[in-house]
Amino acid sequence: MSTGIFTLALIKPNAVKSGYTAPILAKIHEAGFRISAMKFVQLTVAQAEIFYSTHKGQPFYDGLLEFMTSGPIVAAIIEKENAVEEYRKILGNTDPRKAAPGTLRHLFGTQLPANAVHGSDSDEAAIRECSFFFSAFERY
Ligand code: RTP
Ligand code: MG
Repeated sequence: MSTGIFTLALIKPNAVKSGYTAPILAKIHEAGFRISAMKFVQLTVAQAEIFYSTHKGQPFYDGLLEFMTSGPIVAAIIEKENAVEEYRKILGNTDPRKAAPGTLRHLFGTQLPANAVHGSDSDEAAIRECSFFFSAFERY
C-alpha cells in the first residue's frame, strides 16, 4: 500500500484534443484531490523516451512514444491521502474497453494507447514523474 500524498496525473493527447480536459479535472476534484501544480506541454520524442524509459523494449513502446508526442498534454500533480492508489481506482483498466463503467478511461478513453489519462504506479514513480514535469517553484 502506498502512503504518499501526491501522484502525477496526465491528460493524454486524445483527451485534450477531444475537449475532455475540464471534465477530467472535475472528476479528479469530485474524487477529493487537490491540484498542486498544472500545465500544458507537448513532449518531444527525447523527453517521452525518458518519461517512459521503464517501458523500453515493450511491444507497445514505439506506438506509445508516437502517441504521447502527437499533441499537447496536461500534466498535474494531485494530492490526497494514499494518492497513488486512490487515483488508480478512478483511472480504470489500462485498456479502455476493459475499464469499469464510471472510470476515467471508460468515460474518456478510446482504444490503446489512447486511454485518456496516466497515473503514477508507485510512490517512487510519483516522486520521479512529478519532478520530471515540475520544478519546486511550480508546486503550490
Ligand atoms: P499509465 O502508465 O499511462 O497510467 O498506464 P498503466 O500504468 O495502466 O499502463 P502501463 O503498463 O504503464 O502502460 C503505459 C501506457 O502504454 C500504453 N499501452 N499500450 N497496446 C498495449 O498493449 C499497451 N499497453 C500499454 C497505454 O497508453 C498505457 O497507459
Ligand atoms: Mg504505468
